[in-house]
Amino acid sequence: MASFWLVSAFFGAFVLFSLDCNDAVEFKFTNFVCESYNKSWFTFSHCRLKAINRDKIVLNMNGTLHYPAYRIKIHGKLFKKANGYKPWLYERTVDACKFMLHKSDPLVSVLYNLMKDFTNINHSCPYVGPQIIKDFYLKPELMRVPVPTGEYLLALKWYLDAKPQFGTNFSASFVEDILAKKN
Ligand SMILES: *[C@@H]1O[C@H](CO)[C@@H](O)[C@H](O)[C@H]1NC(C)=O
Ligand SMILES: *[C@@H]1O[C@H](CO)[C@@H](O)[C@H](O)[C@H]1NC(C)=O
Ligand SMILES: *[C@@H]1O[C@H](CO)[C@@H](O)[C@H](O)[C@H]1NC(C)=O
Ligand SMILES: *[C@@H]1O[C@H](CO)[C@@H](O)[C@H](O)[C@H]1NC(C)=O
Repeated sequence: MASFWLVSAFFGAFVLFSLDCNDAVEFKFTNFVCESYNKSWFTFSHCRLKAINRDKIVLNMNGTLHYPAYRIKIHGKLFKKANGYKPWLYERTVDACKFMLHKSDPLVSVLYNLMKDFTNINHSCPYVGPQIIKDFYLKPELMRVPVPTGEYLLALKWYLDAKPQFGTNFSASFVEDILAKKN
């Protein structure tokens, strides 16, 4: 009897896990915009998307911090597109230096893990000089968060020494694998 429950629990957990994974059939960038609010501290030399093929869009960014940044806060706002990006879904301010030390914030970790292999931003504070994101593309298999199909905008405003210095806006479309969920 005990082993029956053990086996049931095992398969139950397995099924829940598989449902929870919610692998996307599509997860790709649709737009990328960046802007400096203080060009004496931060300048962008490029921010662009490039289509490699129909399913793979890569994001490239090259920016330069002209002075070291020791105090970095990121204000993030997530929108879902519905007749323009109207109501925002979620809003947070994150201390980037604290996050890079402990990586203990689960939601920020999801985003960080998507991009950590494509950037030189993968170290602790301070930051200075070239800030590069190279050939960054979204891997649906890393997006293990239940997200409804749609187009999303993640608007990030970067505060250095408590003042907004630049903004980066990432838009992406996400399509759930509904067929896989039914199986
Ligand atoms: C702009 O950047 C410079 C250089 O780091 C800094 O001294 C100044 O305080 C910044 N201005 C604002 C409004 O944040
Ligand atoms: C980034 O831009 C700077 C300044 O324009 C340039 O010197 C550097 O080579 C660029 N780096 C990359 C990786 O594109
Ligand atoms: C940061 O990424 C680069 C390139 O992928 C890698 O060589 C380096 O080891 C990474 N550094 C850390 C601290 O993870
Ligand atoms: C990012 O999007 C937000 C919300 O639409 C907007 O207020 C902000 O100006 C945008 N930032 C950039 C750099 O385009």
